Order: sequence, then structure tokens, then C-alpha cells
Amino acid sequence: MDKLRIVGGTPLNGEIRISGAKNSALPILACTLLGDTPSTVQNLPHLHDITTMIELFGCMGIQPIIDEKLSLEVDANTIKTLVAPYDLVKTMRASILVLGPMLARFGKAEVALPGGCAIGSRPVDLHVRGLQAMGANIKIEDGYIKAEIPSAGLHGTTFMFDTVSVTGTENLIMAAALAKGKTILQNAAKEPEVIDLANMINQMGGHVTGMGTDTITIEGVGHLQGTTFSVMADRIETGTYLVAAAITGGKVKLKDTDPSILEAVLIKLQEAGANIDTGRNWIALDMKGNKPKAVNIRTAPYPAFPTDMQAQFIALNSVAEGIGKVTETIFENRFMHVYELNRMGAQILIEGNTAIVKGVDSLKGAPVMATDLRASASLVLAGLVAQGETLIDRIYHIDRGYQCIEEKLQLLGAKIKRIAG
Ligand code: EPU
Repeated sequence: MDKLRIVGGTPLNGEIRISGAKNSALPILACTLLGDTPSTVQNLPHLHDITTMIELFGCMGIQPIIDEKLSLEVDANTIKTLVAPYDLVKTMRASILVLGPMLARFGKAEVALPGGCAIGSRPVDLHVRGLQAMGANIKIEDGYIKAEIPSAGLHGTTFMFDTVSVTGTENLIMAAALAKGKTILQNAAKEPEVIDLANMINQMGGHVTGMGTDTITIEGVGHLQGTTFSVMADRIETGTYLVAAAITGGKVKLKDTDPSILEAVLIKLQEAGANIDTGRNWIALDMKGNKPKAVNIRTAPYPAFPTDMQAQFIALNSVAEGIGKVTETIFENRFMHVYELNRMGAQILIEGNTAIVKGVDSLKGAPVMATDLRASASLVLAGLVAQGETLIDRIYHIDRGYQCIEEKLQLLGAKIKRIAG
């Protein structure tokens, strides 16, 4: 198993390019299943989760064509098997995103039921209930969601999410795009990745309106055509590199990103003492050599502070001036990084769903273990500022969501190296 070795203490300095968003690329790839003709997806990040999605297509009989720029052409007409097997779903929960499109386009889908994961129980009941409200016959059997449409096909409906769900909203938008009549999704997710997906469907000839608000309306159409679509920038990768600069007292410019979708994160970075400058597709951060100030955070669905940036801000608070309280409201078990950060000398106490982080003068490098994607990112950030060497084990979690993390950090001057294991 590969490890990352980091020698901390260098303020990051320089410019890097942000990759396409994992959490947009996954639903966009699933959406290609809806088209009568092939679709091409551009700006795909080179990540393990994307490879898993391609592998899943392979299992279903679809062989996407990749060109030298990593654009992927998917022809859903070659599908042979309407099953997403447990072996793949257990490695990537987002495989559930093929459920809605497979059912709407091909009339049947069997997707292994994802179990709990390192950050919480993460049920998919809302995906299932929403599809049932559109007329799907669904049974949960042998660890699989087995879904079929009635002979008359899926029909439009009004569905209210009890809890805001990002992939739940995405699954139902994709199914509704080919259902008969109008579907209204209430308390829908407002995340920019949902807007990206809705834009793709509209480009394919669909009728989705209200994306970016909590009420999304989908007028079903008989057919969707393939299209060429470029995935939006990764706001969480952007936020992670901004924190990397802030935690080390550095100065960076991130290109090919979008400051308008990072407002809650940028506000907190400014509160932490960062000078931020933005253009249409870039963000620059300069700490002017200062130590960060502690900030209070409460995660919530977009446009509030993202849960996917919580771990990184706990790392930032751990070396900040003062005490920062970080409350996690989306997932019940997303504090695994805290125990590893404490091993590096952080002073973090957990009380219920709040982490109370007392900034220390310095962290000390240590061997630590990554437990999930964003938790691993927080350990990298801590390693960048810690005295001495940090060795991070189980970095396959990082490779799921950060393209070439060590190369990008090296470009910014970090002393980081991958050790093949
Ligand atoms: N929930 C239910 N029932 C459902 C669906 C969700 O109770 O049927 C609950 C979940 O247990 C959770 C809350 O609703 O408490 C929100 O979960 P959501 O469904 O929004 O999460 P997700 O769609 O599974 C996506 C991202 C996550 C990100 C969350 C929240 C993708 C592929 N994944 O997950 O990304 O944390 O939204 O913003 O889009 C990551 O990138 O590291 C990551 C975990």
C-alpha cells in the first residue's frame, strides 16, 4: 500500500490548476446512460472513483472510449447487463447514481445496496422512495435494490425530500428526465454539482428548471440525445489547496476554478486572516506570513459551509490562534481525523457533533492513518505544517478524490513524496 511522506514547515508558494469535480463527474457519467446517441465527457479528473465508474460501465457491457485528453465517450446502446454488482458498489457508494438513469432508459435496474461507511450510516431510502413515487416497482432482496418500471413507464410526481440529499436529488432528476409528465422535487439539493447535471440534461434535450433552488421541476421527454459536456471545477479540491496555503502561512494562485461556488469557504478563510483575491476563474490567497486565527464552523447543505471541507478546517484550527468550534450536521461519524490529528499534538475534544479545537503552537510529525477521503486531506494539511516527518498510510482514500496530490503540492514547494508499498 502506498504511503505519503511529508516533511512539514515550508510555506506553500506558486500556482496550480484545479481539476474537474469528482462529485460532478460521477453523476455526469451516469447521465450519459440516458442518451440515445453517444455522449462525450470532458475535463474528467484522473481519479480512482472515475476509474471505478468506468469499470462499472464495463461490467454492464459498455466500453467507454478514452482519448488522449482524458475525454470519455460513452455509448449506452451497447449495454448488456442492467446490474451494478456489490463488488463495485462496496468500493464506491456513488455507483447508486446509475439506478435512476438505468431504470428510466432501460426499464430495469439492479444495484447493490450500499452499506454504511467510515463517515456514517448513509441510507439511500430517499432515492428508493422517490423512484417509487414515479411508479417504479422496487424490492430490496439479497442485498440488492431491484427496480422495474410498470408497463406504462415512469410518471411525473411531486416528491419532498425529508433530508437534503445530493445524489438522491441527482438520481431523481435523471429518472424524471425520461418520465411521462412533470416531476417537482421539493427540498432538493442546491449544490453546484446538481446544477451541472441539470445543464447536461438540458443540453441533451431535457427540460429541467429551478436547479440551484430547493424546488426543481423536470418536464419528462420521450428521448434524450447524446451531447458533449465539460465537467465543472472541483470546489472541494480548490478549498483544500486554499487551506494548504493558509495553514503554512503561504501564498498561492489556483487557476481553472470558480470563486462563485466557494463563498462560504472563502468567508471563513478571510475570517482566519487570509487575504483573498478572485477573478472569473481563479482564486489567490496570501497569508502574508501570518498564523491563521481560529474560526467557528457549522456544516450544512449548500450554500452553507460544506461537510467536505470540515476536516481541512479542523486541521487549520489545530494550529490557529484561539479556539474554534466545528459542528458537523450532515454525517454522524465524520470526526475520525481528530484522533489522528491529536496524535500529532493537536488539542481537539469532541462533544457530541462538535469538535472543540484549541490551537497549539506547532504540530509534530507522526505516522498516521487515513480513514476517508477528506479525513486524509486533513492529515496531509497537518503534515505540511508539522515539525519533522509525517507518514500517511492508506492513501488510497486520497487517490479517490485528489488528482496527483503530491505533484500539485510539490509544484507549490511542499516536501512531499509518495512511497510505493
Ligand atoms: N440521507 C438519507 N437518506 C437518503 C440519502 C441521504 O437519510 O436516501 C442522509 C445521509 O445519511 C446524510 C444526508 O442525508 O446524513 C446527506 O447525504 P447526501 O445524500 O447528500 O450525501 P451523498 O449524496 O451520498 C454527496 C457527496 C459527498 C458529500 C455529500 C454531502 C457525491 C458523490 N458525494 O454524498 O461527498 O459529502 O453529498 O454534501 O456527490 C466526498 O466527496 O468526500 C463526499 C463524501
